Amino acid sequence: MMSVATKTELKHEEIKPNIGSRILNSKEELLSGDIAGEIRELLGQRGVLVFPEINFTDDEQVAFTKTLGNFAPEGDHGENVHPITLDVEKNPSSAEYLKGSLYWHLDGVRNTVPILASLLSCRVPSPKGTGNTGIANTYAAYDALPEETKQEIDKLRVIHAPWASMFYYEPEPDIRKLKGFMQAGEAELPLVWEHKDGRKSLVLGCTAHHVVGVDHTKSAELLHGLRDFATSEPFSYSHEWTAGDMIIWDNTGTLHRAEAYDPSCGRMMVRTKLEGEEPFN
Ligand SMILES: [Fe+2]
Repeated sequence: MMSVATKTELKHEEIKPNIGSRILNSKEELLSGDIAGEIRELLGQRGVLVFPEINFTDDEQVAFTKTLGNFAPEGDHGENVHPITLDVEKNPSSAEYLKGSLYWHLDGVRNTVPILASLLSCRVPSPKGTGNTGIANTYAAYDALPEETKQEIDKLRVIHAPWASMFYYEPEPDIRKLKGFMQAGEAELPLVWEHKDGRKSLVLGCTAHHVVGVDHTKSAELLHGLRDFATSEPFSYSHEWTAGDMIIWDNTGTLHRAEAYDPSCGRMMVRTKLEGEEPFN
């Protein structure tokens, strides 16, 4: 008897012209891995994919992450989900560090190969209008720049310093605290990241301290001007969370941030990550 293989098809719809798609497949279809390749492809094009109320359990999120690439273990959590909360009682060690996540950034600026993507799920949302996650598509923003700006910035290098981002939320740290942050190190990265496939994205955010060899006023104008442009309405999307939602963003071609919320409101998210596959150049 002949058997007819039914092929799972990716079901998706655009959120905004330059960023974001909603994935409408069932949990079972996603976990089958049949459309993992198409999801990866779409992620690279759209910057962020939203899985509305997919309600993955921790184990399902880990399993789904593994269909897309290499699972990147984090801290004490190994190959499990990593909790994210500003609540110091639930997460004493990282609540302080997470304050920096309220400003546009990309993850892993001190790594030669930054992570490919983050998958973030909502267990407990903050009150509506707070605690959204913002994502900006820096591939699309680069593409939209005037040709002369592209030429001006294509070869520039930027020093990224995680300590610089501390000043966003603590303007007058004591020297001990500053030195503690400085131990995290710095990195020189391209302002324009040319990827293997020839596409280009902008590497910006609150860790971007200065452009190498450029006057400091001009440097600040470039870094803040480009960040302002890349995170403007046409290229950005702000996800308002419902319990059970999951989003994935392409860390190599986006900036992201958490929007402000009350640290004591009980907001609880879990995250998994995909190992990077391409070094900064
Ligand atoms: Fe982050």
